[in-house]
Amino acid sequence: MTPAAPTLRGPRITLRPWSNDDLAPFAAMNADPEVMRWFPAPLSRDDSDAMVGRARARMAEQGWGHWALQVPGLGFAGFVGLTHTPFDLRPFGPPLADFGEAPVEIGWRMARAAWGHGYATEAAGLLVALARDTLRLPALVSFTALGNVRSQAVMQRLGLSRIAEFDHPRLAGHPLQRHVLHAVRWPAH
Ligand SMILES: CC(C)(COP(=O)(O)OP(=O)(O)OC[C@H]1O[C@@H](n2cnc3c(N)ncnc32)[C@H](O)[C@@H]1OP(=O)(O)O)[C@@H](O)C(=O)NCCC(=O)NCCS
Repeated sequence: MTPAAPTLRGPRITLRPWSNDDLAPFAAMNADPEVMRWFPAPLSRDDSDAMVGRARARMAEQGWGHWALQVPGLGFAGFVGLTHTPFDLRPFGPPLADFGEAPVEIGWRMARAAWGHGYATEAAGLLVALARDTLRLPALVSFTALGNVRSQAVMQRLGLSRIAEFDHPRLAGHPLQRHVLHAVRWPAH
């Protein structure tokens, strides 16, 4: 793919490049304890802005990453994205290690007002197709805290299957440390 971040459109949602106008609403959702319930803590404004900075940089470098998500009636509503898993899966042994060192992970985060409309599944479905048909990846993984059943439901609607539970290596001793990994594999292209 060319490094220019494409705009992707579904029947209702749009995935587009980040704009400076997204920073305030993104910080507000990252400060919402309900949105951040399955993460160690809500994000500060600085950390939220830094996340957008990293997303923009990766998008400029590789042409894919975290897109800003636009939904009907609300405008900017969060992100969906693809990123290399930020830790090595190999030490976990099979079946996690079967996906290699740093497989590409699909993820999402939406403002509370956008939940319950199918927007995350519609948006992430565009990225599953991108990963499979354009990036021609061999597999996609996704993981979340064991209790985050809403996120696991999105994974399953996208066709990812539950592979295994594991302890997140960066959350040792934390109440959210137990995670579950879902994945889909595609035959060699
Ligand atoms: C995870 C998250 C994106 C899921 O959001 P969601 O709204 O449940 O998921 P979807 O957008 O796919 O919507 C599905 C729901 O919309 C409903 N829906 C309503 N209209 C619909 C339509 N036209 N088409 C499809 N689904 C529709 C579905 O029935 C389903 O409802 P249900 O949960 O009551 O079964 C959201 O909860 C979130 O952002 N959480 C905080 C961040 C987070 O935890 N991220 C993951 C960390 S790894």
